[in-house]
Amino acid sequence: VSQLPEGYTIRPLQRGDYAKGFLDVLRVLTTVGDVTEEQWNQRYEWLTQHNDQYFLLSILDPSSRVVGTGALIVERKFIHNLGLVGHIEDIAVAKDQQGKKLGLRIIQALDYVAEKVGCYKSILDCSEANEGFYVKCGFRRAGLEMAHYY
Ligand code: ACO
Repeated sequence: VSQLPEGYTIRPLQRGDYAKGFLDVLRVLTTVGDVTEEQWNQRYEWLTQHNDQYFLLSILDPSSRVVGTGALIVERKFIHNLGLVGHIEDIAVAKDQQGKKLGLRIIQALDYVAEKVGCYKSILDCSEANEGFYVKCGFRRAGLEMAHYY
């Protein structure tokens, strides 16, 4: 398992991460929009009530800024004897913190949770540009993503 740089911590999402720059980290990934603290709190409450399905992580730097995040969603299936599948989503590391193995550490932590809760596999969608990163994390190309936007 990859070690975090000294002074960095990895832990489940906390309500107070709103003020620690959590959403700014996600902005390296895509559009976040203007999420108010009240909206954040509502979503945070919902996630808390579904904490057997949604696992969100934050990495904090030594100054307690959020510099990395990732999520695991556990899907409950009928197939494969009521199998569980992990979906890895919204992996992001702050631009100035990339290349320090924080992304790798996030994937290792989510993989650990997925295996521990009994998922038989974890899957994710990514761009070609990120394939090499996920290969280093132990994933391999399998299938093709399709999307229907509404
Ligand atoms: N292509 C090939 N190799 C890569 C890439 C890449 N794009 N990015 C990192 N690597 C390699 C690193 O060189 C390192 O290799 P090494 O062990 O031989 O030194 C290994 O992968 C681990 O890299 P980390 O330092 O852990 O990567 P980082 O912390 O920078 O995180 C991430 C990678 C998450 C892709 C980051 O660059 C990022 O946030 N990018 C912008 C947002 C994004 O694209 N997120 C992923 C979306 S897909 C999804 O969410 C399911």
